[in-house]
Amino acid sequence: MSKIKKDKQGSKKKRRIPLPVKFLLIVLSVLVVFSSSTIGVNYYINKNFTTTFYQINSDKVTDNIRIVELSDLHNSQFGEKNSKLISKIKSLKPDLIFYAGDMINEDESDYSVLFDLSDNLSKIAPIYACYGNHELDRYLFKDKKFTEKLEAHNVNLLSNEATDVTVKSSVIQLIAISDNVKQFDIKTNNAKKFINSLKPTSNCRICLTHYPELFNEKLLNKGIDIAFTGHVHGGHIRLPYIGGLYSNGEGFLPNFTEGVVKTKDNTKVVVSRGLGNHNPIPRINNQPELVVVDICWY
Ligand SMILES: [Fe+2]
Repeated sequence: MSKIKKDKQGSKKKRRIPLPVKFLLIVLSVLVVFSSSTIGVNYYINKNFTTTFYQINSDKVTDNIRIVELSDLHNSQFGEKNSKLISKIKSLKPDLIFYAGDMINEDESDYSVLFDLSDNLSKIAPIYACYGNHELDRYLFKDKKFTEKLEAHNVNLLSNEATDVTVKSSVIQLIAISDNVKQFDIKTNNAKKFINSLKPTSNCRICLTHYPELFNEKLLNKGIDIAFTGHVHGGHIRLPYIGGLYSNGEGFLPNFTEGVVKTKDNTKVVVSRGLGNHNPIPRINNQPELVVVDICWY
């Protein structure tokens, strides 16, 4: 069929595509080409994890302390029964291993991925964990025995509580917060009451919480030296020169998506991009990440 029409005067005229439609077609074509190639590349990238190292100095420790942080595993596996993850962590020789939440999925009752992993990692170093939203949902609404079962696999789960942990000749005060920004002030929860009840300490205060956005306001000026967090999955899609696109807690272009973010009151907030996903938004340009933090005394 001819695309050429005659106008009222009988002259031949091309059918013109309106400019906004043209623009939309160009954008859609670019997106289709871009996404089909990136989905392929990202599928491969997301099957492997990268290891990110940070060094944080503290005059409150007397030895160097190495902490390996896992977050947002969401029942993913790297190698059979996470053999690749386990051998990497073994080679890193950590003093402590932290789980910053969402290691399972709230809609799955099979915890074997996490339990097998914990059995293996607990032979390398002591494991400390906080609840993510998926563990808390599981524990509160679906399986009251979840915490008990996890602890049977050598994981010390802390919830709105503190414990002193001795590493070499240093003592750190480890605290864990379970509640997100919306839950934080609710009277039946303990987060606010707990954090306000803490007495000042000369020990390094380390906070384990799933939610980095608590450091926009709720956990400021609480004497926290270093925090380990996750939840935001690196902002799901990472844009060159811009960073993470979106987080559930902060919306578009959030403050906390990865790295070590220093707050107004000088807390160093370590944000893991996490190891897995349980979300309709895919991870793009955002490789799963194992985080290693060396707290250095010098
Ligand atoms: Fe998550």
